[in-house]
Amino acid sequence: LLKEFRISESVGFVLECPAVELPAKFAAWAQICDSMPTLVEKHTVREAIGRMPLIDSSSIETYEQLRLAHLLLATLAAGYIWHAGEREASAFIPRQIAVPFWEISERLGTKPCVTHLTACLANWRLVDPTGPISALNMRLIAFRFIEDFGNEWFFLNTAQMEIDFAPVLIEMIRACARSERVTDRNAQQAQHLAVTRALDVLAHTLHKSTATLRDMRLHLRPDVFYHGFRRFMAGFSRGIYEQQGGIIFEGVDGIGPQKFDGGSAAQSSTLQAADSFLGVKHRGAEAEFLLEQRNYMPPEHKRFLEFLDRKSPVQRLLPTSQALKCSFDNCMDALVVFRNQHIQIVASYIIAQRKTDENSVLAQHGTGGTGFVAFLKAIRDNLTKYYK
Ligand code: ALA
Repeated sequence: LLKEFRISESVGFVLECPAVELPAKFAAWAQICDSMPTLVEKHTVREAIGRMPLIDSSSIETYEQLRLAHLLLATLAAGYIWHAGEREASAFIPRQIAVPFWEISERLGTKPCVTHLTACLANWRLVDPTGPISALNMRLIAFRFIEDFGNEWFFLNTAQMEIDFAPVLIEMIRACARSERVTDRNAQQAQHLAVTRALDVLAHTLHKSTATLRDMRLHLRPDVFYHGFRRFMAGFSRGIYEQQGGIIFEGVDGIGPQKFDGGSAAQSSTLQAADSFLGVKHRGAEAEFLLEQRNYMPPEHKRFLEFLDRKSPVQRLLPTSQALKCSFDNCMDALVVFRNQHIQIVASYIIAQRKTDENSVLAQHGTGGTGFVAFLKAIRDNLTKYYK
C-alpha cells in the first residue's frame, strides 16, 4: 500500500530522493533559478527569462526528474509573474516556461502552478549526506527569491512536519487494513489495539508539529515572510486574474486563461489525513475548499485520503471502547492546539504585517485564495462537535 500511495516509510509524503539535477540541455532553467534572488533584487527577472530558449521537455524520463522540472518551472513562473510586486503582476506566463510547465504537469497528473507538492515536498537536499534527514540539515533546491535564510526555513520547517508524520501514516494504514467488521474476539481486540495505537501516535505527533510550527520563528522573521517572498506563492483566481478569467499560458494551444489557487496548507495531505482518519467532516465552503485542494496533491496522495475516508474505522469503533474514546479525545485536543498555533502564526506573519497594505488582494486573502482567518477559525471550531 505504501508504494501504491507513494508514501515513504522514512519521510511520509515528502519525496524520498529528489533529483537535484536535470540533463545538460535544461541547464538554463537551473541557472536562472539559482540566480533568482539577484534577479529579483535587480528587477531583471523578465529580461533573463526573455533570453531563455524554449526547451523540449519530452526527453525527461524519471519521476524524480519530472518533479524537479516542475519545481524549477514553478520557480521561473512565480519569479516572472510576481518579482515586481502584486501591482505589476504578469497577466501571462511566457511560452518558454508555459509550454514545458503544462506538459510536465500533465505527465505528473498535477497542476502547472506553485503547490505544496513542489515547493515543499520535492524541494530539499541534505547539507551533510551522512547526517539526519531534518530541517537543519537540509537546503532548498529552488523556490528561493531572496537571500535571507527565512525563505528556505519556511519550506524546510514545513517539510519537517511532514517528515515527522511518516510513522503516523504507517499506523493509519495498519489500523485501516484491519477495518473490516470482525466478529472473532481476538481479531476485535487486535483491531482496537491497532486503532488506539494509531490515535496515540497521531496525538503525540500533532503536539510535536505544534512545537515545530512554533519553531518557524527561529529562522523566519514575519516581515521577511510577508514582504520578502510570500507573494511568490500566490495563485491566479483573484485580482487581475479574476477579471481576465485566469492566467494565460502563452504557446499552449487549445486552452483559455487558467484559474489556479496558490500554495496553501490545505494542500498538505498530512493535515487532511488527520481529519480523514479521525472522521472529522467539515461543512460548506471550508469542506469545498479542502476537497478542491486535493486536486493540487500528487494523485497518489489524493487517493490515500479517499482510502482513509472510506476505510477509517475510528468513528465506528468510538462508542465501543472507553480507551479508544480517550485516545480520540487526546487527538482532538492536540488538533485544536495545532490549529490555534496556526492561527497565531497567521496573526503575526500576515495580519500584523499588512497594516499599510489594505487594498491588496494578498493582504485580504491567503495565497491559496481563502479569507484565511475565517477559514482557519471555522476549521478549528468545527472540531468541537466531535467531543461527545
Ligand atoms: N498560504 C500562506 C499565506 O497565505 C502561505 O501566506
